[in-house]
Amino acid sequence: MEQIFSTFPLVFFFLLFFIYSTPTLSQSPAPAPGPPGPADIIAILQKARQYTTFIRLLKTTQVSDQLNTQLSKSNEGLTVFAPTDAAFTSLKPGTLNSLSDQQKVELIQFHVLPSFFSVSQFQTTSNPLRTQVGNDGQFPLNVTATGNQVNITTDMVNATVANTVYTDNQLAVYQVDKVLLPHGLFAPPPPAPAPAKPKKQEASSSSPTDDTARVDTSGGIHLSQHAFRAMSSLVLVLGAFCF
Ligand SMILES: *[C@@H]1O[C@H](CO)[C@@H](O)[C@H](O)[C@H]1NC(C)=O
Ligand SMILES: *[C@@H]1O[C@H](CO)[C@@H](O)[C@H](O)[C@H]1NC(C)=O
Ligand SMILES: *[C@@H]1O[C@H](CO)[C@@H](O)[C@H](O)[C@H]1NC(C)=O
Repeated sequence: MEQIFSTFPLVFFFLLFFIYSTPTLSQSPAPAPGPPGPADIIAILQKARQYTTFIRLLKTTQVSDQLNTQLSKSNEGLTVFAPTDAAFTSLKPGTLNSLSDQQKVELIQFHVLPSFFSVSQFQTTSNPLRTQVGNDGQFPLNVTATGNQVNITTDMVNATVANTVYTDNQLAVYQVDKVLLPHGLFAPPPPAPAPAKPKKQEASSSSPTDDTARVDTSGGIHLSQHAFRAMSSLVLVLGAFCF
């Protein structure tokens, strides 16, 4: 009997150790993603000014994260056609709002070529060019150049490269005077606004982004871990009392 009494504190100690260390261990394999690398497209555009709409779309579609990751992992480089704020304001009103979240991703990806192009490389490239959207024929982009004059056509819009914003042989950012509207998103005549459409847009714009979803999940994990600890502590205290 006396022996049992003397070993109980030891048992409790181990129980306590076990219960408190297990949730901590299961928590550890979820480290926060590392900070983005130094070649940051957003930073380049912010420095150049006049790209606030393009920056906002790069962020909300999370294409900027994708591009920064791609830049740090591949050595093909990237070419970005950045429409100015003036280019966005000259769009027909409602053009952007008519797009779903997924279509906005495609619109932004359409402004990116998954390899580096210098101005002189545009003179010899064969059309149509592959963009970040992919090459399914719905998103043809042609670029022609003579000297420093670079023209872009999507068969929905004719644009010109007005300026080189940035180039480092890995990443090229060119200023374009028009938003490059892809055939795949804008060729069919826009249907008359049906009564169901505004509702749908509201739903999609208020739907949680991946970020908030992630926060919610981890919050849930924290809660349940706290609950687990609180309950196990209570059981231990009660056990000690009974004992
Ligand atoms: C670019 O377009 C302009 C008209 O917008 C035209 O005069 C010029 O020839 C075109 N250049 C090329 C290389 O296509
Ligand atoms: C793009 O170039 C291809 C090949 O030269 C041509 O067949 C196509 O019509 C061009 N599209 C546009 C929109 O200029
Ligand atoms: C683009 O330019 C071509 C040739 O200059 C012209 O035929 C075509 O209509 C233009 N497209 C648009 C959308 O302005």
